[in-house]
Amino acid sequence: MSYLTHIEDGAGARLDPGVAHSAPPAERLRARYDMDRIRREVTVANIARGPASLWRYAPLLPVARPEHAVSLNEGWTPLLQVQRLARRLGMKQLAVKDEGRNPSGTFKDRGAAVAVSRYVELGVKTVAHNSSGNAGGSWSLYAARAGITCVNILPTDAQPASRQHCRASGQPTFLLENWHDGGRLVAEACEKNGWLNICTLREPYRLEGKKTMGLEIAEQLGWRMPDVIVYPMGGGLGAIAIFKAFEELLQLGWIKGKLPRLYVTQYEGCAPVVRAFDENRDECAPWGKIDIPPGGLKSPNPPGGRAVLELIRRHGGGALAASADEALAAVDEMTAEEGLFPCPESATTLVGLRKAIARGWIRTDEEVVLISTGSGLKSIPTLAVPRFPTVTVSAELHA
Ligand SMILES: Cc1ncc(COP(=O)(O)O)c(C=O)c1O
Repeated sequence: MSYLTHIEDGAGARLDPGVAHSAPPAERLRARYDMDRIRREVTVANIARGPASLWRYAPLLPVARPEHAVSLNEGWTPLLQVQRLARRLGMKQLAVKDEGRNPSGTFKDRGAAVAVSRYVELGVKTVAHNSSGNAGGSWSLYAARAGITCVNILPTDAQPASRQHCRASGQPTFLLENWHDGGRLVAEACEKNGWLNICTLREPYRLEGKKTMGLEIAEQLGWRMPDVIVYPMGGGLGAIAIFKAFEELLQLGWIKGKLPRLYVTQYEGCAPVVRAFDENRDECAPWGKIDIPPGGLKSPNPPGGRAVLELIRRHGGGALAASADEALAAVDEMTAEEGLFPCPESATTLVGLRKAIARGWIRTDEEVVLISTGSGLKSIPTLAVPRFPTVTVSAELHA
């Protein structure tokens, strides 16, 4: 069962959880739960007996009937210790949360599974959003499984794997030339057609799904928090969600202590948060020309920019940029050293960690978790085409 009580806006007003809400990100719509009742009725032992998916956290999710959830068995991804990488960085230990194991190959499935499940309960028939690709692919799969429609607006360089998810699941999908106008286009289309606008941070339930990354990290560490989280930031939803998880667990008394410091990474070619952090501003200025590889992190005006900068100010941390070449080299390093095959967006976290250590921002004895948001299998055309020697098996060799 769910302990959802209401949706709260940034001014503290209580909104009816029985209808679908969508509002500009500045309104900060957040799902709230009856924490006293959860404390009385749910224990970490109950959670541990739950399914090996994000649905083990059903009491902290908004879906009234989790047994009917629209699920492809997402979440409960491994938190892998990466000893060789740690040694290369001079660290005692390092962990990677491997989100590439999710059904569509990225962490977007968490937000899609939980939000689609809740919107089916609320009778929503059509949702729409702009997505750099991964969310579009993921929401298309879950919309297909739910029997609802997801209208996708993708950039012209959206990756083939994401486009195929959208196409094969039969969801209406359009490529947009002027990416900076994507949000406005979706808002207008939703207004006109009565669709639900599910763009980043406009509605409260994607965040609830992504929150399960934080719940899992705490549980996988034995109900503790690490010292540092490094997160590859686009719109900022995932980082905000992980910290909402930690705050709720503290409220429940399931974990204790100080929240981690948050370091976010972006590509140099679209780094509005890094620039705002470097200039000590609490708001991002919109980024001009975007010059990054296809895929996530294509957020020139991040809806969660202000909230992420607040988290960094409150808990410590920073923002670091990686060049595309550094990210691609880090994909190879993570693969060669550990057998992980992350997408380049995820590999920016390794680049960022190395820079943060070099600047003295992160100590080598700290407990750090890198969030690897997706699989390299989603980025094959972006990665270098391997050149191996071509050999022929001759008759003599056979003999
Ligand atoms: C693989 C990947 N990692 C990270 C992100 C950033 O996500 P968020 O919008 O939660 O910051 C995205 C989306 O832009 C993505 O596709």
